[in-house]
Amino acid sequence: MTILAIETSCDETAVAVTKQRTVLSSVIESQINDHVLYGGVVPEIASRRHIESISSLYKKALEQANITINDIDAIAVTYTPGLIGALLVGVNFAKSLAFALDKPLVPVHHLRSHIAANYIINPDLEPPFLSLVVSGGHSHLIHVKSYTTFETIGRTRDDAAGECFDKTARALGLPYPGGVHLDKIAEQGNENAYTLPRPSVEGNDLDLSFSGLKTAVINQIHKHNQKNQKINTADMAASVRKAVCDLLIDKTITACERFNFKKLAIAGGVAANSLLRRRITEECKKRKIKLYIPPLSLCGDNAAIVGVQGYYEYINGNIASEDLNAFATMDIGK
Ligand code: KG4
Ligand code: ZN
Repeated sequence: MTILAIETSCDETAVAVTKQRTVLSSVIESQINDHVLYGGVVPEIASRRHIESISSLYKKALEQANITINDIDAIAVTYTPGLIGALLVGVNFAKSLAFALDKPLVPVHHLRSHIAANYIINPDLEPPFLSLVVSGGHSHLIHVKSYTTFETIGRTRDDAAGECFDKTARALGLPYPGGVHLDKIAEQGNENAYTLPRPSVEGNDLDLSFSGLKTAVINQIHKHNQKNQKINTADMAASVRKAVCDLLIDKTITACERFNFKKLAIAGGVAANSLLRRRITEECKKRKIKLYIPPLSLCGDNAAIVGVQGYYEYINGNIASEDLNAFATMDIGK
């Protein structure tokens, strides 16, 4: 089954052609250069850039897959969660195509597609398994019960891990998007140089919290500035990175042990973090948990993952009607 997939949930316009778990083409246009000036994504600009890019990316994706639109069996699109104006561009493009070609339209939840990155490179991976989904807007521990049945067993109560990386990176004067820059510079730093909190939450002990950590870092930077002292950027980056990874790994391993998960898949933009990848690999090895980590190219937003998840949504009968709307938030289980 050949799927044309569209992703416009944030600051990447992406189109792909997939066949079951195989990627026939995948093209991405990043908007980083448009947002870097502002130190973060400007939603209005994001929507406008998606409008400008989507048609040419659509043509490129078909060309690179060496097919025509008539070879497509269905159209999959990210419809939630994300920036509403940005999502609407992709949803409307997909709806128009589906309507004009009389092909099924498959709505895909963004976090479900991040998890599906693992199916592309691991032909043996099948649910059930635990997934740690960590991105700019989400930090979730998800029990993937089947390809289309999900239960959130832990989640951040406030900021996402990616948000914590991005905002602390910005306070350190690193360019947007901060996570990757902070990760790079942290490699040269001393991760024990600065004392930072590991916030805990009441209630579900698998839930996470990053806002206290983010505020602690920003306060330490301000205090140093007020005293005309210089923060060592590499040391602070390494200390933040260690704190975020400590929190994520602690909850993930606790969940694996508590529910006896023997398979763990990580996903989302923050899954590109080099310390997270190294440490989670070690922890899983010690406990004989089979670990799945997508290659860097599939961690961030792209449409190939939308196509692969779209395939499972389609065979599960998840077809949208012509009034499909976009939603800024939605639980992954819905
Ligand atoms: O999944 P994604 O591309 O977009 C969302 O759905 O949010 O994730 C983007 C997030 C950003 O916060 C970005 O800074 C973070 O992933 N990120 C990283 C790294 N690469 C990207 N965070 C830490 N280390 C990295 N190497
Ligand atoms: Zn994402």
